[in-house]
Amino acid sequence: MCGIFGCILKRGRAAPLIHAALKRLEYRGYDSVGEATLRDQQLFIKKDAGKIDAVHAIRNLDDLPGRIGVGHTRWATHGAPLQINAHPQSGCSDPPRIAVVHNGIIENFAELKKELEDRGHRFKSKTDTETIAHLIEENLKKRQTEPSEDVYSGFRSAVAGAVDRLVGSYAVAAVCTQEPDKIVCARNESPLVLGIADDAYYFASDIPAFLPLTNKVVYVENGELVTLSKKGFEITKLVDGSTVVRTPKLVDWTPRMAEKQGYPHFMLKEIHEQPRCLRDTLRLQEKYLELLTTFLDRAREVIMVACGTSYHACLAASYMFSKLSFLATHPVIASEFTEQHGKSVNIDSTILAVSQSGETADTLAAVETARQRAATILGLTNGVGSTLTRVSRVYIGQQSGPEIGVAATKTFTSQLSVLSQLAIRLGKKRGKISQEEIDLLDEKIEEIPDIVEKIVETQSKKVQSLAKKHRSKECFFFLGRGISYATALEGRLKLMEIAYMPSIAFPAGESKHGPISLVEPGFPVIFVCPPDETRRTLIGNIMEMKARGASVIAVCEEGDDEIMQLADDYIEITKGIPEVLSPIPYVVPLQLFAYHMALERGCDPDMPRNLAKSVTVK
Ligand code: G6P
Repeated sequence: MCGIFGCILKRGRAAPLIHAALKRLEYRGYDSVGEATLRDQQLFIKKDAGKIDAVHAIRNLDDLPGRIGVGHTRWATHGAPLQINAHPQSGCSDPPRIAVVHNGIIENFAELKKELEDRGHRFKSKTDTETIAHLIEENLKKRQTEPSEDVYSGFRSAVAGAVDRLVGSYAVAAVCTQEPDKIVCARNESPLVLGIADDAYYFASDIPAFLPLTNKVVYVENGELVTLSKKGFEITKLVDGSTVVRTPKLVDWTPRMAEKQGYPHFMLKEIHEQPRCLRDTLRLQEKYLELLTTFLDRAREVIMVACGTSYHACLAASYMFSKLSFLATHPVIASEFTEQHGKSVNIDSTILAVSQSGETADTLAAVETARQRAATILGLTNGVGSTLTRVSRVYIGQQSGPEIGVAATKTFTSQLSVLSQLAIRLGKKRGKISQEEIDLLDEKIEEIPDIVEKIVETQSKKVQSLAKKHRSKECFFFLGRGISYATALEGRLKLMEIAYMPSIAFPAGESKHGPISLVEPGFPVIFVCPPDETRRTLIGNIMEMKARGASVIAVCEEGDDEIMQLADDYIEITKGIPEVLSPIPYVVPLQLFAYHMALERGCDPDMPRNLAKSVTVK
């Protein structure tokens, strides 16, 4: 996730305005920043790695000349946070004639890059975005030499032709010295809005970028091309060039509300962002997934280290790897790693470190212990450019964008999605699962983002009323069997950390070995019950709880009448989700439950007491 912004002003200079707008978009990403402005058919670009204030202190982002410009604040996906990878990106020409800013992921960039390199283009960065600049450059060249029957002409046609070649998600904007009075933007899946003022036109990833300047907003839809000029904005459909007439809408958000896109809390916004983040995990670079799979395949032993929510992702992954690829993995809480495995880890060990931030001290300490004993380090993180990416032999960036709520939500489901993709690949490589099973898993993993979207849409009200009903309870149980034990642990962690509710999670089979002694009439027990092989036994555990008067809440498959009749309350999850993917949709109602319980109990879900988003001390 990155932030893009640009403007065409009738008076004044664009650069300071772009700088200020990028500051307001910093919550979308903050590892690099850049601006490009146009004056007298000349392009002026400044960009560097680092947070906006740090880059401004060194480079002064305000002194670029001109009334037209674009800017970008980056959350690295392709290529580390380095100056060369910061946006704007340009083509081959020197001095640059094209500047492109982009938010999204271009899935087919490797093929496009190869094709363009074969045509003589030279690439400077590791970004997918640079491909767009070269495509535009190539189109401009072609259109000068070959007559075109395009509906668009000139620069607009070159941008339309470029985005036509892209597979993936993008909100992209480009400027060019050849037509220095225009900005051309296009959208597919990544957000793009226009701001309309009397003396200026803006485009941005999000409304807060221009909210202090105007509250007149035009929403750009997927498959649309926008041309901004001093005369106004023109929207056309990319597919046929037909004009779209759309009148601006007035928004009455405060800047703080706008940052949260109208949601009362970042946590709720991030829960709602999950479908989009999950879609992005399906666009990861093939070569890194393949490389990681190869390392896992060759490993003598695989130890997964992580803390908090990331540990729960590892625990779920241990079931995935075992079931799909017959690979035994050991999920270990990072702070215990040195004591538990410090002496046994060796050159034949492979460590898969999972950390949203890539900076958690305990996880990095575990990695260091393993590194000193010559183990191979693999990483999965949301922090490209983080310490974990630097110490890993190979890493994958999960591409969830910044998560601001302290409680991890979207980053957890994205971790699960990446780990399940690795387990499926490994199963395939090792010949442990049938083609039929692979096809089904591939099909279902594509459906998961829509399923999560549906759960959030249809179950939120019900979850909210459950939170009301149980707000005064003193303790909760979260129970699951098999992979759902990991889901139960995560549901319990959410409730405990943001609603300060003492909660216990354990494998349902363990009830009778102790915890059941706590149960008395009305005691709330949440069961995670997807219809997998454990369902029958789990029903037995539900009965045991019911017999002692527990108030049972079941998260179960829609139409599972037997469980629905046993439970006092239930939340329904779409049918037909394979067991190994079930933690992704089944955790969503538990995230929502924790959120609403926090509100019911007067707690701030975004900033729970005593906790930090990233714990950089041991
Ligand atoms: C803190 C956060 C948790 C997170 C854990 C691990 O405790 O509050 O939400 O799961 O750290 O963080 P990491 O960045 O390593 O995933």
